[in-house]
Amino acid sequence: MINKENAIKKINSLRTELRNHNYQYYVLSNSLITDYEYDMKLKELLSLENKFPDFKDDNSPTMRVGDDRNIYFKQLKHSFPMLSLGNTYNKEELEDFDKKIKKLIGNNFEYVCELKFDGASISLKYIDGKFSQAVTRGDGSEGDDVSNNVRTIKSIPLILHGNNFPKEFEIRGEIFMPHKSFDSLNKTREQEGKNVFANPRNAASGSLKLLNSYKLSKRKLDCYLYYFVSNDLHRNSHYENLQECKKWGFKISEHTKRAKNISEVIEYIKSWDSKRESLPYDIDGIVIKVDSIELQNELGETSKAPRWAISYKFKAERTLSQLLSIDYQVGRTGAITPVANLKPVNLAGTVVKRASLHNSDFINNLDLYNNDFVYVEKGGEIIPKIVGIETSKRTEEFTKIKFAKNCPECGAKLTKSENEAAHYCPNINNCPPQIKGKFEHFFSKKAMNIGGGSATVELLYNNNLIENFTDLYELKHCDLLKLDRFAEKSANNLISSIKDTQKVPFQKVLYSLGIKYVGETISKILIKHFNTIEMLIEAKFEELTAVDEIGDKIAQAIVDYFAEAENIELIKKMQTYGLQFSSEAVISSNVLGGKTFLITGNFGTSARRKELEAMVEEFGGKKRKSVSSKTDYIVAGEKAGASKINKATKLKIPIITEQTFLNMIN
Ligand code: IVH
Repeated sequence: MINKENAIKKINSLRTELRNHNYQYYVLSNSLITDYEYDMKLKELLSLENKFPDFKDDNSPTMRVGDDRNIYFKQLKHSFPMLSLGNTYNKEELEDFDKKIKKLIGNNFEYVCELKFDGASISLKYIDGKFSQAVTRGDGSEGDDVSNNVRTIKSIPLILHGNNFPKEFEIRGEIFMPHKSFDSLNKTREQEGKNVFANPRNAASGSLKLLNSYKLSKRKLDCYLYYFVSNDLHRNSHYENLQECKKWGFKISEHTKRAKNISEVIEYIKSWDSKRESLPYDIDGIVIKVDSIELQNELGETSKAPRWAISYKFKAERTLSQLLSIDYQVGRTGAITPVANLKPVNLAGTVVKRASLHNSDFINNLDLYNNDFVYVEKGGEIIPKIVGIETSKRTEEFTKIKFAKNCPECGAKLTKSENEAAHYCPNINNCPPQIKGKFEHFFSKKAMNIGGGSATVELLYNNNLIENFTDLYELKHCDLLKLDRFAEKSANNLISSIKDTQKVPFQKVLYSLGIKYVGETISKILIKHFNTIEMLIEAKFEELTAVDEIGDKIAQAIVDYFAEAENIELIKKMQTYGLQFSSEAVISSNVLGGKTFLITGNFGTSARRKELEAMVEEFGGKKRKSVSSKTDYIVAGEKAGASKINKATKLKIPIITEQTFLNMIN
């Protein structure tokens, strides 16, 4: 058995380590180790603290449930503490939980089985059937007021249906990011040179803490509710309470099921262990709860978790493989992505041969050596990750990885600037994958939408038919017919789809140019401020950074792009082919059809009113500062100007809430 001296050493090191992981996870939305590893460390610390009670400490990580508070948000107290859940990882531990419960309350009870959604927990408060606030878990007794952000999540009802709900109650659940939203968010972030989120859970918790709720509304979060908290409970059954909540408009999972005994619970778990892959969002386990509220109260809770519930966590599928070699892929902007070639291994039903190594920092942080034995894990995402190294298997022949010095495709010396994670191949105009990548981007649906994709690009490029975008406009029918895979009809189609690009609006043409960091959103923003390409070409660094959302990195990339004579020449030539390089006002949709709106009153934060006004213009409406017979709608917040409201009432102008307005543009 461990002696006292070694125990305190181990306790201290585990506490420091877990504190750091708590900070990384809850504050920075970053996880350095798997949940399983975290739980094992916490368990080890707990057992040492129990064996050596002299070393107990109120500030030990075992005494708290983590902390996600942020200085920018107001803190609010929870009316009931937001507890965590005990974890189990196997059938035996679950059976122990069942035995413990039976000892305390006998055999006459049922369980409810639920999916354990992997996101950020939230407590919503409703007063008189209206949404009143949303608070994060924080330290369990108070959390951040993220009401303005949460209000933009479409599946959360702001006004409840029916009327048989308690006057005041809290309901808790999980805010998560569905896979589809996660993939498109990361794709955009990558295009804009921002760090991508490691997984949907980090993306959800990071998004909740955004200071701009309009941005959050674009991230398409979702929320399942799983715990109705009130002193005024309708029924003596957790399951039935949830069904009641469903009628009031809350999103309750249809996979929530009652189970008569622990064997039915185990069956439910088994069925989800494989089925979870097919869900459109991540779950990391199953939650098991005693159904009867009376029995829940009898069982009570510890300072950390209820005794009437427990979670069963799925182990992320993990296996050992060996690094065979590293490929360095060159993207269209010249960014180099190292990819690991692995000894093929079977993982969660698929053969894994490759894993992304992201960039040189990632390789250095892993401390990766050639031929290393590596642990590969598959979470909810499609691409497997290297999560650790089995250093005990290293031999003296293994040498530390040295990042490539030259471009594998064109041999140019790679560059890396201090403030960027990626290495770049600077040979922008002559490096084949960069040229092909630029054309693929130009052809893509969100850009010029030219049919054919990468296969057509490859064919045209390999036959020396394209080098610059303008070469496309010179393509002749007879040139195409000489190529394999092209016949009369396909050649016509390609030529007419190239001709159609004359109708593509400026914002998409700008995006198509493939300027570093100028993705779809940034193009849209730029065009709002610089209506013509000439204005953008002349814009100084300071004028660019004066635009909200345009930081130093993006501004520099734009200035650098237009500083190249070759690029200016290209644009001029593109103009001669009739492509659009100017726009009057860019509107993302015209749902508001030119109607005029006046926004008045408070909307939570001072920035919110501006955001709403920006939305009016973005969706094709006009904003007005005073009421007149030409005003179509008044969007009224709290303490809306009385004289404006009176005048609007006299003129019979509809006065609508923020939510009704959001519904109009949805
Ligand atoms: S019940 C007092 N049910 O898991 C009971 N939690 O590891 C409170 N979670 O903090 C929680 N799905 O954020 C419950 N169906 C579910 C859940 C769930 C996900 C999260 C929740 C909680 C954490 C504990």
